[in-house]
Amino acid sequence: MTQSSPRLTTLPAWQKLRLHYEQISGLHMRDLFAREPDRFTNFSIGWEDFFLDYSKNQITSETMELLVELARECSVPDAMERMFNGEKINNTEDREVLHTALRSDINKPYVIASGDDVMPEVRTELEKMKVFCETVHNGSHTGYTGKVISAVVNIGIGGSDLGPHMVVKALEHYKKDIETHFVSNVDDADIAETLKKVDPETTLFIISSKTFTTWETLTNAHSARAWFLRSGADEDALAKHFVAVSSNISAATDFGIKEENIFEFWDWVGGRYSMWSAIGLSIALAVGYDRFSEFLAGAHSMDRHFRETPLEKNIPVILGLLGVWYNNFFEADTQAIIPYDQYLKYLPAYLQQADMESNGKRVTRHGEEVNYTTGPIIWGTTGTNGQHAYFQLLHQGTRLIPADFITAVESLNDIGEHHRLLVANFLAQTEALVRGMNVSEVKVELKKSGLSDEEIEKILPHKVFPGNHPTNTLVYQKLTPYNLGALIAMYEHKIFVQGVIWDINSFDQWGVELGKRLAKIIYDELEDNEPIDTHGQSTRGLINYFKRKSPQVS
Ligand code: F6P
Repeated sequence: MTQSSPRLTTLPAWQKLRLHYEQISGLHMRDLFAREPDRFTNFSIGWEDFFLDYSKNQITSETMELLVELARECSVPDAMERMFNGEKINNTEDREVLHTALRSDINKPYVIASGDDVMPEVRTELEKMKVFCETVHNGSHTGYTGKVISAVVNIGIGGSDLGPHMVVKALEHYKKDIETHFVSNVDDADIAETLKKVDPETTLFIISSKTFTTWETLTNAHSARAWFLRSGADEDALAKHFVAVSSNISAATDFGIKEENIFEFWDWVGGRYSMWSAIGLSIALAVGYDRFSEFLAGAHSMDRHFRETPLEKNIPVILGLLGVWYNNFFEADTQAIIPYDQYLKYLPAYLQQADMESNGKRVTRHGEEVNYTTGPIIWGTTGTNGQHAYFQLLHQGTRLIPADFITAVESLNDIGEHHRLLVANFLAQTEALVRGMNVSEVKVELKKSGLSDEEIEKILPHKVFPGNHPTNTLVYQKLTPYNLGALIAMYEHKIFVQGVIWDINSFDQWGVELGKRLAKIIYDELEDNEPIDTHGQSTRGLINYFKRKSPQVS
């Protein structure tokens, strides 16, 4: 590792932000709102069907000016151009980062820094997906006994699962007459329980793996194939029921998938950024290719917003900078994602990989150990459920937890008062989080309820809400494929901005390798019941415990 230190904390804007933090960190947002009548207008952005209110943050106009200055000093605009232009910004893997090309206008060339136009290959694969989806939907691609395909099982993990899974759930309202299942975990319960729900004659398996070497995925794929063959189908029938999505064509053919049944994507698409490629096949099958196209179009529109809008009014940039503000100056460890939209149930899980695998890095792009914190811990669940689970800690706990509150203006289901109730809760929570309830307000309330002074003194500290908790409120008109595409692209770009500020490579993931290597060794060691004397004391003790307690291998 090199000895030089990263430059981020020496930048003028960073130093100014340090001082500025000292000045404003004691302020209460109540006071900021009281003295700034235009705060809501000044700290909000409308774009297409989206509205972002970021006024409920511990910021002033000076904060935002300094954060934008920081973005400039870190060359965020230049980094964006390098990504969009297909320079090899994934420097540790010597790769371009071009998920934006996958959702670009297919009728226009996308010429990258090397001089290549990537659009012809993108177009070919999209066309192949389109034709395939049409044949499944119109019943011309049937199962081997002639029955229509009524279930799809996507077998993949990480980026080959989380994105499509989240999107298929999010677009459930638009779903075709086809059930989509996702199997990711190597735990046999996942595949076993899924196979109980499907019929081999009417099920299509998609083996999704960029590398086609991922152990979990290949194990599940082999089990699915064995189950299929056990049902009475012969090897020739496999072609009608197993397709693959991969950048490793030879490994997929070695597995037994016919080349015409392989949908390709490329090294320049990162796994966690791959749902826009053929990895989105399960999405296109679930909702139809046209909806999938709208989903790509929404993401493309957000790409253009990101690339073309001044930093001050640029949604992903603003969200990224606010994240840096809390992460590095307030030392907030986590970031909550709270969709008040049941369809976005899996958004937090998807963002965990998108954000934490991207920005969970401890050295800069040049290998220097960072002297500041990088990626936050991402977590969350849907509202209103979270209100009845962890919101107590948000309101009265000791930690500062910035939170994104996300919802739709219009519901997709017009049933009674549900949506109004949902929105009321959504708005109430961010108000409660910012405003809180101080000692005198609590006293007045308790007095009104008829408590004695002595009783009030006792209960008072428990009833006080400090408030001043930061939230972003993000609202879209309704959850369409287009708006969903834009929403996800927004988060991708937010993560990118933060990676640029922290000067890390957001596109590799070397940290996942060690565990994979050790698992291979331990897997072999678990083959029999003979005790081993390798590994450290604790792992050795545990391996031997499993060996003693597992059924004897004959
Ligand atoms: O182990 C992490 C990872 O490499 C992710 O980055 C990736 O999304 C996932 O595994 C699955 O990889 P693949 O698509 O190659 O099976």
